[in-house]
Amino acid sequence: MSKSSEATGIAVLGMQWGDEGKGKIIDLLSKEARHIARAQGGNNAGHTIIAEGKEFKFHLVPSGILYPHTKCYIGGGAVLDPSSFLEELGGLKKSAVSFEKRLFLSHYAHVVLPYHRLIDQFMEKERGAGAVGTTGRGIGPCYADKVARIGVRVADLIHPESFKSKLEAVLKIKNQQLQKLYGHSPLEFSPIYREYVEYGERLKPFAAPVEEFLYQAGRKRERTLFEGAQGALLDITFGTYPFVTSSCTLSGGVLSGLGIGPSQIQRVVGVAKAYSTRVGNGPFPTELKSEELALFPDHTASREIGTTTGRKRRMGWFDAFLLRHTAHLNGVDALALMKLDILDGLDEIKICTGYKRTPTFPASDEELKKVEPIYESHPGWKEATGHIRVYDDLPSKAKAYLRRIEEACEIPIAIISVGPEREKTIWLDPLFTDY
Ligand code: IMP
Repeated sequence: MSKSSEATGIAVLGMQWGDEGKGKIIDLLSKEARHIARAQGGNNAGHTIIAEGKEFKFHLVPSGILYPHTKCYIGGGAVLDPSSFLEELGGLKKSAVSFEKRLFLSHYAHVVLPYHRLIDQFMEKERGAGAVGTTGRGIGPCYADKVARIGVRVADLIHPESFKSKLEAVLKIKNQQLQKLYGHSPLEFSPIYREYVEYGERLKPFAAPVEEFLYQAGRKRERTLFEGAQGALLDITFGTYPFVTSSCTLSGGVLSGLGIGPSQIQRVVGVAKAYSTRVGNGPFPTELKSEELALFPDHTASREIGTTTGRKRRMGWFDAFLLRHTAHLNGVDALALMKLDILDGLDEIKICTGYKRTPTFPASDEELKKVEPIYESHPGWKEATGHIRVYDDLPSKAKAYLRRIEEACEIPIAIISVGPEREKTIWLDPLFTDY
């Protein structure tokens, strides 16, 4: 039996710079899954789901929570800002989405504290023109503390005595940094302690041995979705460093972030837009020139305004060279191609198939800034696609564009999305096939 015909664990990962539409794919596949687990990142991520006419914005909670039969997990590789997490739960409660006994938080996840957000913002200011363009949520400084072994984890937060000693020790270090490097007044221990002990109380019911739960789900061969956050080119190691986030956004990060073994993932679905976007700074080889951008629907119509920070996303042509590279980094075996409908009105659509004189994807951001994309031009189909549900009904020029993407990326397309709503989806492969 082939590997794909017995898939019970599917990883859904971003192939570009995040915002590819992973939330929609997770939401669709959640219907068929029992477990949905998020391995890394924090409330820097933003997933928008439109379900039954309602819009939901998720930052940390897996979007699979909208299906009452699922169990959702936030793994030890994630970083958790308690106030943002609790706010998200408040939103779910308002919309009558139940999450009690369905949402579990790893004891190993690190906690974002107020000094992380401050340091994130100070560091960005200090970098000036070289700023990363972070979300300002304290994600990088929180991961930095994890690696420096001065972080605070959920396991600490839910035990006030352990939290007290950890916070006392780390606040000394952080206050020195804030005062000496940034001229900021020292943060007081008591208000932070009181605020976070209360968060700890509220988080306690969610804290659970997520790693063991996922192991048991795997043993029972229960369908599990592994939800990626951000995208391959924001990966801390293989992304467009230093313009990256601070966690591993690749399939390898799913394993290390959730504490599971590789045999629990049978399929890796790479999610990519039918074009490219990037929010934040850093090289972007196929970025549109202003006259090309003017031909696209504007940022509101193309839904290219960030869920987390409200920033306009930079837009570019589809980069098949980059996608082949990120697919290899992840071991992708199927593509979900998103937002095809945004290209409906264009006369001409370009695909980048390589960079001149560049045999492999450059590691250096300086080099990547200078590459010269090789484009091929495709005629636009100039027809609406949002109402189409079956591949054969797509305009022939749209099918030719899609076939070329498959060929240039060397990966079959499993799903095509033609709008944000659940039903605006064309399925070519059901993905979960263990019937
Ligand atoms: P940080 O994760 O806030 O440190 O931001 C680092 C870089 O990652 C910035 O360029 C952000 O815009 C980008 N980034 C972080 N999370 C996301 C996301 O979910 N979607 C798109 N870009 C993101």
